[in-house]
Amino acid sequence: MTEQQFIPKTYSNTVESGKVTWESPSNIALIKYWGKKKDQIPENPSISFTLNHCKTITTVTFSKKENISDFEFDVFLDGEKKDDFKPKIETFFKRVEVYLPFLKAYKFKIETKNTFPHSSGIASSASGMSALALCLMSIEKQLLSDVTLSAVERSLSDNYFNQKASFLARLGSGSACRSIEGDLIVWGENEVVDGSSDLFGVKYPYKVHDNFKDYQDTILLVDKGEKQVSSTVGHNLMHNHPYAKNRFQQAHNHLEKLKPILESGDLDAFIALIESEALTLHAMMMTSMPYFILMKPNTLEIINKIWMFRQKTGLHISFTLDAGANVHVLYPKNESVKILEFIKNELVAYCQNGHYICDQIGFGAKQLTIDN
Ligand code: PMV
Repeated sequence: MTEQQFIPKTYSNTVESGKVTWESPSNIALIKYWGKKKDQIPENPSISFTLNHCKTITTVTFSKKENISDFEFDVFLDGEKKDDFKPKIETFFKRVEVYLPFLKAYKFKIETKNTFPHSSGIASSASGMSALALCLMSIEKQLLSDVTLSAVERSLSDNYFNQKASFLARLGSGSACRSIEGDLIVWGENEVVDGSSDLFGVKYPYKVHDNFKDYQDTILLVDKGEKQVSSTVGHNLMHNHPYAKNRFQQAHNHLEKLKPILESGDLDAFIALIESEALTLHAMMMTSMPYFILMKPNTLEIINKIWMFRQKTGLHISFTLDAGANVHVLYPKNESVKILEFIKNELVAYCQNGHYICDQIGFGAKQLTIDN
């Protein structure tokens, strides 16, 4: 696959107006993407669990303009007009225009909401950008739709739909390309996963042990404020980073190691690998120039408590981190009663206002029918 394959031939249908809605989940990386080349091409492969409850729901209403002019759109979050969201979407539209040539021919109303609190420190860019990419793909599908397709062609076109949605989402926000499908998604070309690509996320195609079915992710909201250093800045600091080369190679090695772990259900090996990934991500931040720290004292308190509890009980509780202070506590479903009790009794005290979100592995985005 190359970028060229996502440039559509001429649109066969005329559609005057319409409305589409998608809900798309967030995801949490087990092997982290940190460092990118031009156009959100990752420096290393990553793999994530798609989440189930943390989602963005986006409705795009569209109507054909008299003349093709510049991009025309308005954005609403929870019903409130958000002009400060427009520059990011304008940049996204510019980047994807060549792949979605209808963008300048329509006027759009983009209405969006998140199932998680806006200022929770949970990035909405993965779920938000994937939901928007899917809405745009549904519009394109109406412009292209061909009723003469056979069942096989239709299933191939479903695959193309997801791939192109992931490809577009990536151009909005790198990790968003892992939010289209579930439950385990790989992004970034590598030798371990057949069909992997730098351009879009693919479903992890190999055997996954039942231990990882319904895996739980309780997100402890340690700090709900804006990050001091954005991920765009953080990614860029991997250029000329003294440890970058080794880190990128390590991600490939970790993916190779993860494959037999996922197959055999070896939870201890899984924990060692994903915790090392989380701390390596933050080590890269701390060894950038300029250096920065996104963890907070309570992040470390929680990590230490998790380690002590694991040692004492032998339960398979572990953590991962994204580019922030919040802690994702990961554990198998069949250990959830004791682990949730521990989280409530011992860890919630370290969360801002005691806030946390219970989530688990999910299976990807869904199109919704919303009455006009
Ligand atoms: O998609 P971005 O540019 O916000 O980068 C996200 C990077 C991490 O969340 C830190 C890791 C990952 O793979 O999701």
